[in-house]
This record gives sequence, structure tokens and C-alpha cells, in this order.
Amino acid sequence: MSDLPVLVTGGAGFIGSHLVDALLARGYSVRVLDNLSSGKPDNLPLGHSRLELIEGNVADAVRVREVMAGCGAVVHLAAVASVQASVIDPVGTHRSNFIGTLNVCEAMREQGLRRVLFASSAAVYGNNGEGEVIDEDTPKAPLTPYAADKLASEHYLDFYRRQHGLEPAIFRFFNIYGPRQDPSSPYSGVISIFTERAAKGLPITLFGDGEQTRDFVYIADLIGILLQALEAPQILPGAVNVGLNRSLSLNRLLEEISALFGGLPEVRREAARPGDIRHSQASDRRLRERYRLPEPTPMAAGLASLLGSA
Ligand code: NAD
Ligand code: UD1
Repeated sequence: MSDLPVLVTGGAGFIGSHLVDALLARGYSVRVLDNLSSGKPDNLPLGHSRLELIEGNVADAVRVREVMAGCGAVVHLAAVASVQASVIDPVGTHRSNFIGTLNVCEAMREQGLRRVLFASSAAVYGNNGEGEVIDEDTPKAPLTPYAADKLASEHYLDFYRRQHGLEPAIFRFFNIYGPRQDPSSPYSGVISIFTERAAKGLPITLFGDGEQTRDFVYIADLIGILLQALEAPQILPGAVNVGLNRSLSLNRLLEEISALFGGLPEVRREAARPGDIRHSQASDRRLRERYRLPEPTPMAAGLASLLGSA
């Protein structure tokens, strides 16, 4: 483990703040760069002596360079995480989600950093692999600006690997859920929205027929993988799916939430969202070849952990 701080972009967000907690617990120093567009300082243990939170935008190349100075590795999570937000604002999303990645790559090249973990997405597959298990070689079909920016970021990271010796560990996260996923925006993750509304007795909106599926991964299971990638002696080329070969329809998810809360509020049905993916189930073969994966958290246990925070 290096004594130099780990730079976590987007570290005040849902996934980032859990990673920061884990890094601090393992003795790392951590520098967070976040523009607080969806992240919150309250997600972080701000008084911690090994944590620095720096407000800034990854789309600002000068700021990225300044903040990276003296760091040993990077975890690049900063992005507009909502697929729908990218449909509404492709230009603004592109600045954060693609230019931000390029700025991180350039600053790493200039400063001689090598190891970077990157949060790509299952969205890069679009609707390919429908009815099948999606492995990393499934053809890519980005349907939205969000997906296109993630796929372009992957290609740039791979260019910097070949040309400049970066060691990118590229992960295609499927649907991650858990405490601190912000339920207040309609563009947040579906589990955080549904559980909060169930807890408050507010109507739930279901887009489409509810038969769309997602491969949901509990946050703690993801964090264990990210720590291994940060510390691995080497990173093999090629992106890695982070999904568990389990798919759950939204209708089934609502049944699970109903069982937990002893019933559901009114469920209002609306048309499917544009660019929404129908089916999503990951092959976890490569993930298990490269990383140790303890027994994944069952959905009922993951949902139960939200009861306290909903
Ligand atoms: P989040 O919105 O909680 O976290 C994103 C963080 O990035 C926030 O703290 C936000 O303020 C920050 N940010 C956004 N734009 C920024 C910018 N231009 N400059 C600096 N900071 C900026 O979402 P999350 O779920 O924690 O997502 C983290 C990463 O994982 C994102 O890259 C997202 O695309 C990716 N991802 C998430 C999921 C999921 O299911 N949650 C799945 C696939 C990929
Ligand atoms: C999510 C992530 C995205 C990631 C992708 C990878 C978020 C906000 N989005 O996108 O970053 O790249 O997984 O697979 O974390 N839905 C409803 N009602 C609601 C909200 C959502 O029916 O109130 C539906 C959506 O239409 C969709 C499903 O739930 O069919 C999942 O939506 P969402 O949680 O936004 O995730 P993805 O779009 O899969």
C-alpha cells in the first residue's frame, strides 16, 4: 500500500463515499474531488485526519491537475450517474462524463500515475444480449449519451494504457444499490426511490410494464472488488462486468419491497422511459476469474439494510 493519497473523483456520492470509508479503514489517505452536484459532504466523515474534500469539477483540466498532484492512484467515479439526465442534457453530461475522464487521463500521464479504477456501465451494451447473459464480448450498443460517454471513456483509458502505461481497471457496473443512494431525485436509482416512497407511503411510479430486469449488486459487494483492484499487482486489459448473473424484474422487486414493508403504496404506471434498457443480466465469469467474490449479499438482506435509512 502506498503512503500517497488515493484521489477519488465523485467521492461524495453514493458509491464514492462508501469507497472512501473503506479506504480510510484500511489506512489510506484519501483526497476527494467532487462538484457536489449530486454528492453531499454529509456522506463523508469530514473531520477525519486522512481525508480531504476538494470542491471542483472534473471537466476543469487545471483543477484536476492541481488536485491530483502528490496522489498515488485514482478512482474515477465522478459523473452524472443518471441515464435519463443524459438524455435531457447531452452537452452538460458529456463535459462531466467524457471530458472529465480525458482530463483524468492527461493529468495522470503528466504526473506519472498509473493505477486508475473507472466506473463504466452495463449501459454500454444497450439492448444487446436481451434474453441472454451479457458477457464482456457482447457487442456494444450505447443507446444514450450516458452510455456513449462511458464507452468512449473506456476506449480512451485503453489508449492511455497502450501509449502511456496507465493501468486502468475498467468496471462495467450493473445496478448498484444500498444506503446513501439519494432517493430525492426522480433520476436516482430505482431501489432507493421505491424503498423511500414505500417507507413514506407515497405513490410509486413504474415506467413500462415492470417486466424489465436489472442485475442488482449491493454496495458492499462492489467495494470489496474495488479495493482488490486498487491493490492488485497487475491489471489485465479488458473491462470487467460487475453483476452477479441474477436478474430481477421490477415487478418482482416491488413484491420484495411489499414483503419487507408489509404492503405497497399506490403504484402508478407510466410509459417506458426513452433509451431504457429492457433486460440486464451479467455474466460474472471474468469478475470471478480476476477477483475474489465472497457470497453476494441476498436482495432481501440488502433491502433490509435500507429500512433504517429510508
Ligand atoms: P452519485 O451521483 O451518487 O455519484 C456521482 C458523484 O460524482 C457525485 O458525488 C457528484 O456530485 C459527482 N460529480 C458529478 N459530476 C461531477 C463533475 N463534473 N465533477 C466532479 N464531481 C462530479 O452516483 P453513483 O451511483 O455513486 O455513481 C458513481 C459512478 O458509478 C458514476 O460514474 C456512475 O456513472 C457509475 N455507475 C453507477 C451505477 C449505479 O448503479 N449506481 C452503475 C453503473 C455505473
Ligand atoms: C442504472 C444507473 C446507471 C448505470 C446503470 C447500469 C443510477 C441512477 N443509474 O441505470 O448509472 O450506468 O444502472 O446498469 O444509478 N424506474 C421506474 N420508476 C422510477 C425509477 C426508475 O420504473 O421511479 C425504472 C426505470 O425506468 C428502469 C429501471 O427502473 O427501467 C431502473 O432505472 P434506474 O434505477 O434509473 O437505473 P438504470 O437506468 O438501469
